Amino acid sequence: MLAPTSHPGLADSALLKAARGEPVPHTPVWFMRQAGRSLPEYLRIREGVGMLESCMDPDLVTEITLQPVRRYGVDAAILFSDIVLPLKAVGVDLDIVAGVGPVVASPVRTLEDVAAIPDLTPEHVPFITQAVRGVVAELGATPLIGFAGAPFTVASYLVEGGPSKEHAKTKAMMFGAPDVWDALMRKIAQIAAAYLEVQVAAGASAVQLFDSWAGALTPADYEALVMPHSSRVLAHAGGLGVPRIHFGVGTSNLLGLMGEAGADVVGVDWRTPLASAVPLVGDRSVQGNLDPTLVFAPPELMLARAAEVIEAGRAARGHIFNLGHGVIPSTDPDQLKRLTEYVQSYPL
Ligand code: CP3
Repeated sequence: MLAPTSHPGLADSALLKAARGEPVPHTPVWFMRQAGRSLPEYLRIREGVGMLESCMDPDLVTEITLQPVRRYGVDAAILFSDIVLPLKAVGVDLDIVAGVGPVVASPVRTLEDVAAIPDLTPEHVPFITQAVRGVVAELGATPLIGFAGAPFTVASYLVEGGPSKEHAKTKAMMFGAPDVWDALMRKIAQIAAAYLEVQVAAGASAVQLFDSWAGALTPADYEALVMPHSSRVLAHAGGLGVPRIHFGVGTSNLLGLMGEAGADVVGVDWRTPLASAVPLVGDRSVQGNLDPTLVFAPPELMLARAAEVIEAGRAARGHIFNLGHGVIPSTDPDQLKRLTEYVQSYPL
């Protein structure tokens, strides 16, 4: 299967330039979870269709991925999928329960449990190849960001069996069963790397590795027990020739390591002022980091805070504007439209 011919304007898009640290015509902007429940057109199209079912239907994935691009004119699309989708695709018995998140039927605890999870091959995810091609054909010069869950964050769902605050069982395995931990992290890293490769081969022009829950770790434990596995995923993506964004929540003391893991762009949540994050990531770009609840403030306040984020981003090698975490479902899309226009017209 041939990769789609890329649009001539793509390489010059503001998002890819900012990711590479080149001068940009405007600060590029997109929003984590820009597709989803904040959009009435999403709620309509998802009526009566389960989350995983919709992620495996290429026409639905294409349409849902494009919805926020049409509405907001953001500088990137992100593939509509989920971090647990590749696990489902290789045969792990799991579901995404509305209002809860991913739930795994038989949590992973032993070496045998890990060995029972197959490696991912492109044949497991033909619908992803098809969806990415469909999206890219419509996007023109707007880049599509592919993504995967990082080994620690995905391990947390597999080991806990569902969402968790403390990640206690996950960390018990990490500290107490190093052989099982290593095997599990290697397995998830293989799946993430292969899943990203499928997306890039089909036309995604950047990738984001979501290590949403890495902020639960100390820097020393992150560096010794988690970072090497994320690094392998990021190195693999780098070999595919696309910029890599690396994001987590509550990671103020991990930002340097998350950059060193092999990122071109380090995603910063809203609790860390961008000005403090910039010196920590070295010669890399940053992404973020408006508090996602500022959309509930009056527009003038939201935009004034956005201006502060843009100003702080000037000190970085490159800056991609985003929220500090995903769009909250009750967000008014008109606020995100206002925010997009404001960021794109902000004089640099
Ligand atoms: O627009 C986009 O950003 C792309 C789509 C996307 C989804 N999940 C769709 C989704 C992305 C990038 C993800 C990644 C993801 N999934 C992460 C990393 C990002 C983060 O938020 O930190 C994590 C931790 C998950 C696991 C997960 N899946 C959670 C915590 C939830 C929310 C549970 C809930 O209902 O509140 C999901 C489900 C999910 N993934 C939804 C969407 C649109 C909601 C399901 C629905 O619409 O019924």
